[in-house]
Amino acid sequence: MLYSIWMVSALCATALSAPTLTFSSDAAARPVEMKVLSEYFQMLGSKVQEGKKMAQAPVCNMNNAVMPVASPKPLPPPTAGLVLKHVAIGRGTQNYSCGANQTAAPVALGALATLYNASCVASTYPTLLAMLPNVALQFNLTTTNQATLSPSNLAISGHHYFSNASTPTFNLDTPSLDLGFAPCSKNASVSAPAGAPVGQDNKGNGAVAWLKLLTIDGATGGLEEIYRVNTAGGNPPATCAGMPATFEVQYAAEYWFYES
Ligand SMILES: *[C@@H]1O[C@H](CO)[C@@H](O)[C@H](O)[C@H]1NC(C)=O
Ligand SMILES: *[C@@H]1O[C@H](CO)[C@@H](O)[C@H](O)[C@H]1NC(C)=O
Ligand SMILES: *[C@@H]1O[C@H](CO)[C@@H](O)[C@H](O)[C@H]1NC(C)=O
Ligand SMILES: *[C@@H]1O[C@H](CO)[C@@H](O)[C@H](O)[C@H]1NC(C)=O
Ligand SMILES: *[C@@H]1O[C@H](CO)[C@@H](O)[C@H](O)[C@H]1NC(C)=O
Ligand SMILES: *[C@@H]1O[C@H](CO)[C@@H](O)[C@H](O)[C@H]1NC(C)=O
Repeated sequence: MLYSIWMVSALCATALSAPTLTFSSDAAARPVEMKVLSEYFQMLGSKVQEGKKMAQAPVCNMNNAVMPVASPKPLPPPTAGLVLKHVAIGRGTQNYSCGANQTAAPVALGALATLYNASCVASTYPTLLAMLPNVALQFNLTTTNQATLSPSNLAISGHHYFSNASTPTFNLDTPSLDLGFAPCSKNASVSAPAGAPVGQDNKGNGAVAWLKLLTIDGATGGLEEIYRVNTAGGNPPATCAGMPATFEVQYAAEYWFYES
């Protein structure tokens, strides 16, 4: 019973109520988005059918969630003893700057993303989770406080930003849930796997790297290690040719949060 309620709230609701489609006006001109979305809704549909057949209550047991492993080179695994606390889909932009040198590479300025609670999806429907960054990439946020992640109805669980150029920060304190605060430093980075979504409508310069971050002084909620995986989009062009002084590139990713 509880299970079907959860299914309705987390999955069905989007199929039943019309989500705000910020891109629908020229959808026909965006075959890639249409393909991504149609796969997503087909998957949702089949999960809903499965849910109807299941008699048991939902178990959003984080022990069932398995973080994707980067290939060909994996990231260092979470430190032994840490426990998965939260999984979020991050949706926002990577920001870059360019100077006068047209052959130089853009310089990363940081990122700004809104985080959406995907813990239950991670523990229950890993295939659906893996599709979400690419699906979410097709919808720009209307504000950084957008309550749910289009076209799903995953609820906001926090914000990701840079407190200075080298400190990615996660604030997982929202009115409904406080999971902690985590300024971080980068520990490891590997290229996104071949075939990762390159950007909106399949145009773009590739997916940002997968990362392992370690929290630094000031972290709360027991947060120790954070991974960015299953990235979609976010890379800048190879050079600054024709680029403005600062610009942003749309991206989405899964963030996995481990606590002590
Ligand atoms: C939201 O996140 C918390 C912490 O990870 C988790 O316990 C809860 O089940 C999540 N809710 C959903 C709907 O995923
Ligand atoms: C422009 O950037 C390229 C690539 O980084 C570098 O080789 C070149 O020296 C730079 N030119 C100037 C004038 O700084
Ligand atoms: C990224 O760009 C957005 C929009 O211009 C801006 O609001 C944000 O402050 C920028 N973030 C960083 C880290 O530069
Ligand atoms: C999202 O915003 C970017 C600007 O950052 C714009 O170029 C792009 O067309 C928008 N995409 C959609 C799907 O609205
Ligand atoms: C950035 O912030 C971190 C954490 O507050 C601090 O340790 C570091 O010194 C700062 N770096 C710069 C260049 O300000
Ligand atoms: C990454 O973290 C491990 C321990 O957690 C440490 O041994 C290693 O030096 C770190 N590497 C970098 C590049 O920070």
